[in-house]
Formats: sequence, C-alpha cells, structure tokens
Amino acid sequence: MQTKKKVSVNDIIAMKHVEKISVLTSYDYSISLICDRAGIDVLLVGDSAGMVVLGYSSTVPIGMPEMVVFCGAVARGAKHAMIVGDMPFGSYQPNPSLAVENAVQLVKAGCDAVKLEGGSEIIRTIKAIVDAGIPVMGHIGLKPQTSSLWEGYKLQGRTKESAMKLIEDAKALEKAGVFSIVLEMVASEVADAVTKSVSVPTIGIGSGDGCDGQVLVLHDMLGIYEDIRPKFVKRYAELSKLIFDAVSSYTREVKTGKFPEESNMSHLGPDELEKFRKAKKK
Ligand code: KIV
Repeated sequence: MQTKKKVSVNDIIAMKHVEKISVLTSYDYSISLICDRAGIDVLLVGDSAGMVVLGYSSTVPIGMPEMVVFCGAVARGAKHAMIVGDMPFGSYQPNPSLAVENAVQLVKAGCDAVKLEGGSEIIRTIKAIVDAGIPVMGHIGLKPQTSSLWEGYKLQGRTKESAMKLIEDAKALEKAGVFSIVLEMVASEVADAVTKSVSVPTIGIGSGDGCDGQVLVLHDMLGIYEDIRPKFVKRYAELSKLIFDAVSSYTREVKTGKFPEESNMSHLGPDELEKFRKAKKK
C-alpha cells in the first residue's frame, strides 16, 4: 500500500505561487477519513463546530474541552492532511502563557498547528506560541469570535483605512512567525493586495480568487447546515435532502415492519435453537 506523506508547514509555505491550497473544516473521525482520502491539504478543526455541530448561534460559547475532543477525533481520522486546531474565544485573549498552555493541549490532542483570530493586537501571544515550537495560522478580516459582538458579519476592508490596516496586520503576523493567514470576508481587491504583501500563503473564505488557498466550512459546502447561507459558499452537495429522505424512509420502514429484513438478522444455529426451545418449554 502506498503511504502518503503528512503535509507539513514547509509544504504549505512552498505551495505559495506554485499550487493552490485546499482547506476544509472537519470535526469528527469518519468525515476526516473521507476528506483525507479525497486529498485535502489541510483540515481545520474550526470553532465553527460551536455553530454547525453544537447548535450555538455564534462561535463564542465553545470552549477548550469541546475543541480538544473534536481535534482528537479529526487527528485519528486524517493521516495525510495537516490538522489545524482553532483556539476558541477566551483560550488565548487573557495572556500569552495561557495561550501557550491551551495551544499545547490542542497539539497533544493531535493538531499539527493552531489558529488564532486577530492582527497586530495579538502579536505577543502569537510569538509566545511560535517560541513554544507550535506553528500558528493567523486569521484576519472578519473575526467571527468578536465581530459577532460588535458590528456583526460584514465584508472587511471596505474603506482605504481598513484595507491598509489589513495589509499592516498581515505583515505583523508574518513577522511574528505565522506560516499562513486566513482572510475572511475581505473585499477581493484588498485580499489580492494582502496576498501580494506577504511571503506566507493566504487562505481565503469569501475573499475572492486571488488568495493562495481556499477554506470553506464543511457543513456549508455539503449542504447540511441551513441556518446561515453566505453568498461565498458554493454547495458541492445537498446532503440535508439526502439525509431527510433516508431518515423518512427508515422511519416508515420501522413503523410498517419492512425493516429489518432477513439479510439484516442473525439466527441461532439449529442445535442451539433446539436446546433453547426445550429450555423455554420447561
Ligand atoms: O471556525 C472556522 O470554521 C473558521 C473558518 C471560517 C476559517 O475559522
């Protein structure tokens, strides 16, 4: 059997200008196994799990204990893809040493790197994690953990000032040692400029086609999560309809006795059956 090499930080950096980087979120073992077989470069255990798996209305409530469980499950499934664990809200804001402790927890759970939302304001924290030997993916533009508390989910870099601030933040992140930067919901022209201003790859979500790679939330692109449908999501499948139909058929067949069928049952051998019948009669 051919064993594929694990995607490393250096592989991701080397892909800039050479090959686009494919990234998807993942939160469990079975799906990660499939994504890995399909050749995804990076699996991001996003804090979006809080919304699409746990049903919260934002990414704010999810914490470290849940993220550690999801990261472990993904790591057991994906042997080729690089695994990046999102640091949840509250796990890195208080101080750099808490951030390092929590990043270590995600690495112990099986992650190859961690991701934090923020620009110049979290440079000290990023440096501390990188100094501890843990690769960091940056995340600027829309920062769902805090945007949900301020202006909501809006396109970023809409003014000259905010566009220039994004370039400044990306450069600061690069200097602090990140190996890649997620650009979320950034106007395409601005995302292009940010991408050109740094030597590490940018991974876009809703930020146009000029980024070095793309990331989508798995439940969005598979058509499972219906609560929010951002315009930047392309649906590659409509799984919620497939699941609905399958569950409806199952319910109908259980109620009408069509399931289980003979092929789904296990029986006693003739000798044991005979002994069992006699025992019951006594
Ligand atoms: O949590 C997540 O899914 C993310 C992506 C949107 C980049 O951070």
